[in-house]
Amino acid sequence: MSRAIQILAFGGPEAMQLVDVDVGQPGPGEVRIRHHAAGLNFIDVYQRTGLYPNALPLSLGMEGAGLVEAVGEGVEHLSVGDRVAYASQPPGSYCEARVMPAKCVVQLPDAIDFETGAAMMLKGLTVQYLLRSTQPQGGLQPGDFVLFHAAAGGVGLIACQWAKAMGLNLIGTAGSDEKCQLALDLGASHAINYRSGNFVEQVKAITGGRGVKVVYDSIGKDTFEGSLDCLSPFGLMVNFGNASGPVTAFNLGVLGAKGSLYVTRPTLFTHIATRERTQAMADDLFGMVTSGAVRIRIDQRYSLDQVAQAHRDLEARATTGCSILTI
Ligand SMILES: NC(=O)c1ccc[n+]([C@@H]2O[C@H](COP(=O)([O-])OP(=O)(O)OC[C@H]3O[C@@H](n4cnc5c(N)ncnc54)[C@H](OP(=O)(O)O)[C@@H]3O)[C@@H](O)[C@H]2O)c1
Repeated sequence: MSRAIQILAFGGPEAMQLVDVDVGQPGPGEVRIRHHAAGLNFIDVYQRTGLYPNALPLSLGMEGAGLVEAVGEGVEHLSVGDRVAYASQPPGSYCEARVMPAKCVVQLPDAIDFETGAAMMLKGLTVQYLLRSTQPQGGLQPGDFVLFHAAAGGVGLIACQWAKAMGLNLIGTAGSDEKCQLALDLGASHAINYRSGNFVEQVKAITGGRGVKVVYDSIGKDTFEGSLDCLSPFGLMVNFGNASGPVTAFNLGVLGAKGSLYVTRPTLFTHIATRERTQAMADDLFGMVTSGAVRIRIDQRYSLDQVAQAHRDLEARATTGCSILTI
């Protein structure tokens, strides 16, 4: 048996219930993991509200770390007792123990503790594919300017550090002066409080009117148009989230008028569709963390029965860095 957070209907934080579930044995290609910690991510909010649809009842949580307890037939890369971590579909990491597909689960290096592993997998693998593989024509070179929204959040603070390690000038936006300072402290070259100022004008001023090569935008509805205005000709708009609501249909002609722009809407789950790719991306992430180039900040910790407060804090923009559930 395991305690787990489930919803029976889509809704607010109060929809989440702590229930006892039967965990069962892993089938072919599966493992059973006993968690030490689970990561919180904004995608958990989209799944809780039904913005991203899933069948009900739904166990929540996409990120976790713990010990392998049992291994199903055909799983060769994991053994009972291994320390592991993952970012994975299907949801269900807000629990003590679960059975899940083994292909997204990787061994956690000894130098990385469980809480850090649980906090960093979904967010760190996202930064890995954004900065390494989601680049404009001709790629990114040291010295290039990129704009990264929500730079003091879980994904954002990892991006600030990773971009600095790549020699990029990351202009971060954040919702308070304190959050802007945090982004600067962790490697952003410039920071803009987009709640008190016009981020388009400030990006133009910082880049001498040229604009940035890429905008990494997880805010969606509220920032989409402004983000397009921050791009230099042939620039790349990467919309990878909807914290303020999804971007709805828009006139494609706008991309031509603003300088032959590119737009993409990626998701981590395309990038980690195979075990080989997941391992390669995780190795890159682990290297960045164990070398000290990227430090994973866990700024909020909650117990399983405090999960509603954790979601309220995330949605109220009251968090910085990563949040975890300790189990
Ligand atoms: N597509 C993918 O592969 C992928 C993977 C991982 C994450 N994501 C996306 O990346 C984003 C960051 O994820 P995260 O888990 O690290 O969350 P987070 O950045 O820690 O939290 C979201 C932040 O968004 C900002 N925000 C701006 N407008 C908001 C609004 N109306 N409501 C709530 N927040 C608002 C807030 O920061 P400020 O106060 O500084 O504005 C808030 O702290 C999310 O949108 C998530 O869905 C996408």
